[in-house]
Amino acid sequence: MMLHIPQVLSAPQVAECRQLLQQAQWIDGKATAGFQSALAKDNLQLPEDCAEGRQMGELILQALGRNPLFIAGALPDKVFPPLFNCYQGGQSFGLHVDNAVREVRGSGQRIRTDLSATLFFCNPEEYDGGELVVEDTYGAHSIKLAAGDLILYPSSSLHRVNPVTRGARVCAFFWIQSMVRDDGQRTLLFDLDQSVQQLNRELGPAHASCVQLTGVYHNLLRRWASV
Ligand code: NI
Repeated sequence: MMLHIPQVLSAPQVAECRQLLQQAQWIDGKATAGFQSALAKDNLQLPEDCAEGRQMGELILQALGRNPLFIAGALPDKVFPPLFNCYQGGQSFGLHVDNAVREVRGSGQRIRTDLSATLFFCNPEEYDGGELVVEDTYGAHSIKLAAGDLILYPSSSLHRVNPVTRGARVCAFFWIQSMVRDDGQRTLLFDLDQSVQQLNRELGPAHASCVQLTGVYHNLLRRWASV
């Protein structure tokens, strides 16, 4: 399942991050690429341990922790500290699949990448190209979101970033290990959650069907979650 989560960061938060992104020291993005994806990757990135990156990462993780759509869609167990990249002057990232397991630098902690996330810091009209293109069984989906918005997509999918031919595309990207590793099960839980919430609004949460369906949700989550 792909999920667009609007306004993870507010306009003032985006402005604060853009200031930090401007003053930070950028390096070659191949630093965090696996062997195969290094062949396809051409961009700039902030070093994993830089102060600006840590500060923005904290801001993003706090915002996600308060975002009901993110929590319902990702059912997060562990979230990788966000990384930051920039594409400009024709830079791109060819078709690849993300590494299955990533180690958080310096912590020894490993995260299974169930979901990949991209958070946009620039508005679409600020640059040409730079679409994130994600392939699934329904074809290729082209994604270019407003500043502050986030896209979640299965890490198992092939994806690429089109060349940026004008301006710069600056984003945060990171991975999520979900309590429910299977994308199909996670999608069913999300659909059930969203429809139960809709019924709660229409019938009231004390309605017998709402109580029973909430129970079904939690009993499926109990069956499928590992924590
Ligand atoms: Ni990728």
